[in-house]
Amino acid sequence: MIEADLILRGARLLTLGPLKDERPRVGVAAGDVGAVNDGFVAARDGMIVATGHGRTHERFTRVEGALDKDVGGRVVMPGFVDPHTHLCYAGERWEEFATRRSGADYLAVLAAGGGIHATVRATREASDDQVLALLRRRIGDAAELGTTTIEVKSGYGLEPEEELRQLRLLARAKAEAPIDIAVTYLAAHALPAPFTDDRKRFIREATKALERVVDEKLAEAVDAFVEKGVFDIEDVRPLFNAAKKAGLAVTMHADQLNDVGASAFAARIGARSADHVAHASADGIRALARAQIPAVLLPGSAFFVGYAPPEARRFITARVPVALASDHNPGTSPLEGMPTAIALGVTLCGLTPHEAIVAATINAAHALGRGGRIGALLHGRRADIVVLDTDDERELAYRMGAPLVAEVYAAGRRVA
Ligand code: NIG
Ligand code: FE
Repeated sequence: MIEADLILRGARLLTLGPLKDERPRVGVAAGDVGAVNDGFVAARDGMIVATGHGRTHERFTRVEGALDKDVGGRVVMPGFVDPHTHLCYAGERWEEFATRRSGADYLAVLAAGGGIHATVRATREASDDQVLALLRRRIGDAAELGTTTIEVKSGYGLEPEEELRQLRLLARAKAEAPIDIAVTYLAAHALPAPFTDDRKRFIREATKALERVVDEKLAEAVDAFVEKGVFDIEDVRPLFNAAKKAGLAVTMHADQLNDVGASAFAARIGARSADHVAHASADGIRALARAQIPAVLLPGSAFFVGYAPPEARRFITARVPVALASDHNPGTSPLEGMPTAIALGVTLCGLTPHEAIVAATINAAHALGRGGRIGALLHGRRADIVVLDTDDERELAYRMGAPLVAEVYAAGRRVA
């Protein structure tokens, strides 16, 4: 007998369940959300115990205090998975934002000691409590907008000690967060001033910090900004090799503003995902397809910085798994929440609305190495569920900015 403490029924249910094996969706399946009309989902103790359609749920036992609700034909779908954010920062970058809108180049601002460095300064000046309060608020805002798993990077410390500070603050935020946080050590985001003349030494120290990251269990993955004038492949190779050896996943800011061969490198090194990829070459895309490594598209940064967005069709036709993320950060993507990322993924990158939903759920789960656990409404997955205020999920892509997220459950608990 199935026992449930949460039942949402009478739904247009998007299961996003795997078609056969557990793997990211590509090809035709990349646009299949597994819709079931008159569907239901039932959960117990934070895990999904059944999904189906019609009235079979009537046989289930409702435990005392269970929430049992007819959602009146509205969409019920997996909570969004945001696989790439930089929430751990203080300060905003209004002025840089304005100068860039009138033509200043993002990499030139960075090379002149602004950009990422400006946020590093503001974050160092902020107290631990201030940074924690900002993190809490940003995680809460993401949950309000339907995100139930979010990746958060360090990266605004730069010097290894400061990066460790960020990671420890992230561990505290994670411990109390209403949703799941996947922490990433963004070890090489920009070269800090004390290392200007010795990038090899910087990489050595960032690599050495991995020991403490692993000992204190501070991160699941290691990231780097592989970009013209920032770090090149040879710079980061030893860092990534050490990360893999230490059992951490590897991910990277790859070919965001220029094609530097980072997508192919991500494939070669067996990265968990290759992110941005707006300027990935055809070879890079083929390499990602062969290795079935998710490309995480970040249309927010293309939109706010004003560079050519990644063309989703190049990845979809090559059968690269496509995921979407907000890239929330104060420099290139001050956008909030996955519904906006979905809308931009459709309007800027050319995903279909259903492909964008796949990209924001099951494929994003794979981009975080959580493919079998979240991202789909299926027996045995965590009960991360969103109820939309519509009976047509395509509205997410169409009514940009509309308050469509009505209810959010993380591990079976109502969080928004
Ligand atoms: O994903 N480009 C590198 N990292 C971030 C932006 C960081 C910043 O400008 O503060 C990104 O775009
Ligand atoms: Fe980023």
